[in-house]
Amino acid sequence: MTVPTVPTIVLNNGVEMPQLGFGVWQITPDDRAAQAVRTAFDAGYRAVDTARIYTNEAGVGRALAESELCRDDVFLTTKLWNNEQGYDSTLRAFDNSLAKLGTDYVDLYLIHWPVPFHGRFTETWRAFEKLYADGRVRAIGVSNFEPDHLQTLLDGASIVPAVNQIEFHPYLQQHALQELHQELGIVTEAWSPLGQGKVLADPAINAIADRLTRSPAQVILRWNIQLGNIVVPKSATESRIRENLALFDFELSESDMAALAGMHRGDRIGQHPNDFIDDF
Ligand SMILES: NC(=O)c1ccc[n+]([C@@H]2O[C@H](COP(=O)([O-])OP(=O)(O)OC[C@H]3O[C@@H](n4cnc5c(N)ncnc54)[C@H](OP(=O)(O)O)[C@@H]3O)[C@@H](O)[C@H]2O)c1
Repeated sequence: MTVPTVPTIVLNNGVEMPQLGFGVWQITPDDRAAQAVRTAFDAGYRAVDTARIYTNEAGVGRALAESELCRDDVFLTTKLWNNEQGYDSTLRAFDNSLAKLGTDYVDLYLIHWPVPFHGRFTETWRAFEKLYADGRVRAIGVSNFEPDHLQTLLDGASIVPAVNQIEFHPYLQQHALQELHQELGIVTEAWSPLGQGKVLADPAINAIADRLTRSPAQVILRWNIQLGNIVVPKSATESRIRENLALFDFELSESDMAALAGMHRGDRIGQHPNDFIDDF
């Protein structure tokens, strides 16, 4: 069976990252995650988005080890959890993630949340820069960073984050961050692109989907592709895993893109990054 080829985005250090990846939050335990990732690889996904806090890095690693794909065929992202921030603790946490993933490098390592309350993301970033200099990560980035967090980070940084992975869907379009990312050369990566399923019932999105004989999920994901975002939908259902990848044989018109742009409401699913201090 031929599988779709996903376009890549060139990050600010020249590394190419697939524009669509497979999100694995809430796919646990490891056996279930391994099964889902195997299905995603079979469907044609070549990027996986996990995190230490998802407690499924070992499952992702198992799927990779058992697959016929080479390590270099797959773009692997993982994230440092909040209670691991700090210079030495980051280096230790990275080793633990690598051991679980069963690999000797990751493609993209992200600070999961800024947790400004702890005030440790600048020293954490120094450890990220060391991991990058040592060749143990191909790119480093952040997640859930607001404009002021990015400015503070950059004040003490030698490397500009390659990516900021943020909540992004038609109801939360993050205009200020999109503008700043463009200015700084940071790629926007959309998490919960389907609003965890909540955006899929939107009548206007359904009208576009019906007209194009596509699903609402495909319309939203295609919109991200045309915006130039990287996007990581999650599904534990084989038919949806395949559906979410079938985005590269149709296009949204300018007027459809404009209709989606007009859907912003400022509705968040997750907490505001300034308030999120969860560090269990
Ligand atoms: N950096 C962060 O702080 C952060 C936070 C949240 C998420 N993320 C990342 O972003 C990824 C995606 O976000 P998410 O998991 O929160 O939500 P999401 O991808 O927006 O939505 C997932 C939900 O939508 C359903 N779904 C998926 N495809 C569908 C389709 N084609 N039709 C109908 N329903 C569909 C899934 O159901 P089934 O699984 O039952 O099919 C699941 O309930 C995560 O897995 C994670 O990798 C990062």
